[in-house]
Amino acid sequence: MSSIKNIGVLTSGGDSPGMNAAIRAVVRTGVYHDLEIFGIRRGYQGMIEGDIFKMQTTDVSNIIQRGGTILKTARSKEFMTNAGMEKAYAQLKKHNIEALVLIGGDGTFRGAAHFFENYTIPAVGIPGTIDKDLVGTDFTIGFDTAVNTAVEAIDKIRDTAEAHDRLFVVEVMGRDAGYIAINSGIACGAEDILIPEQITDINEVLARIDYDERRKKTVHIIVVAEHDDYGGAKEVKDIITSRFPSLDVRACVLGHIQRGGAPSYSDRVLASRLGFAAVNALIAGTTQVMTGIINGKVVYTPFKEIVKDGGYAIDNDMLEMIRVLSV
Ligand code: F6P
Repeated sequence: MSSIKNIGVLTSGGDSPGMNAAIRAVVRTGVYHDLEIFGIRRGYQGMIEGDIFKMQTTDVSNIIQRGGTILKTARSKEFMTNAGMEKAYAQLKKHNIEALVLIGGDGTFRGAAHFFENYTIPAVGIPGTIDKDLVGTDFTIGFDTAVNTAVEAIDKIRDTAEAHDRLFVVEVMGRDAGYIAINSGIACGAEDILIPEQITDINEVLARIDYDERRKKTVHIIVVAEHDDYGGAKEVKDIITSRFPSLDVRACVLGHIQRGGAPSYSDRVLASRLGFAAVNALIAGTTQVMTGIINGKVVYTPFKEIVKDGGYAIDNDMLEMIRVLSV
C-alpha cells in the first residue's frame, strides 16, 4: 500500500466522449478513500502554468453524460522541452501533488514516458481517445461514441446518395489509425473502406466503381480514414472524377462532430471502470502503467509498452471480411 494522499488528474490531447465520466470516477474513488484530488486544467500546459485546483465530489455531479472535458485539454508543445518539464515538476511540488492520473491518448503517454525519464512521481494512465490506436486495451474511451456518430452520419448520407444516384466519399477521423473507418464502414455497408494501415490500390477502387456502374448499382459509399495514402475524401473524389467524368461524386468530411456529443453507455461504463481502477492502482502502489480492459478484465500495461511504435495492428480477418461483404 502507498502513503499517497494528494493526486492530480488531467485530460490531455484530443478530447473524447467519456473523459468526464473518467474524471468523475477518479474524484469519487479518491474521496471515498480519503484522498485529496486536484484537477489540472488544460493538460500538461496547465501543469506548467500551475492551473491546479482542489476538487470535491460536487464538482463532478451531472457530468457523466456530457461530452468534452470539464478539465479542458491542450496539446502542449512547451511540455516537450526540458524547461517546460522542469516548470511542470516544480508546480507539482508546489501544490504537494504526490501522484498523477493522466487521461489521454498516444501523445499523452509519449509525453508521460519522456517526463518520467527525468522526474520521479507515481502515475497511472487512462486511455481516452476516439482513435483506439493504443496497445494495452481492447477499447479506448470515446471510440464507441465516435463510431456511432460516424454511423449515424453515413446512414444519412446514404439516404441522399440513393435519392440522387450519387457516389460519396466520406472522410472519418483517426489520425494514422483506421479503426473508426473500418468499424463505421462495416456498420454502414460501405462499398469500400480505405485505411492508412493498408496500402490503397486505387486501381482496384476504380475497377470496383466501374463494375458497379456496369451492373447499374448506382449508390456507392467509400469511407476513407484521414491520412490515407491518397489523402482524404477530397483527394479520392478528385481521382474518381478524373477517371469517371460522367459520375456524380461528392466528398464529405465528418470532422470534429466525431469528438463531441454525449458518450454512449459503453464509454460511460468503460470510463467509470478505468477511473476507479486507476486510483485503486495508485493506492496499491502500482505506477507508471496505463489501465485498460482486455477480454473484459482490467489490466495494467507499462507506459513504455504503450508508446512502442507499431504496437497495435488491424485484424487481418476483419480486412478479409470487408472484401467479402462488399461483393
Ligand atoms: O486524436 C484524436 C483526433 O481527433 C484524431 O482523430 C485527429 O487526427 C486529431 O485528433 C485532430 O486533432 P485537432 O483537433 O487538434 O485538429
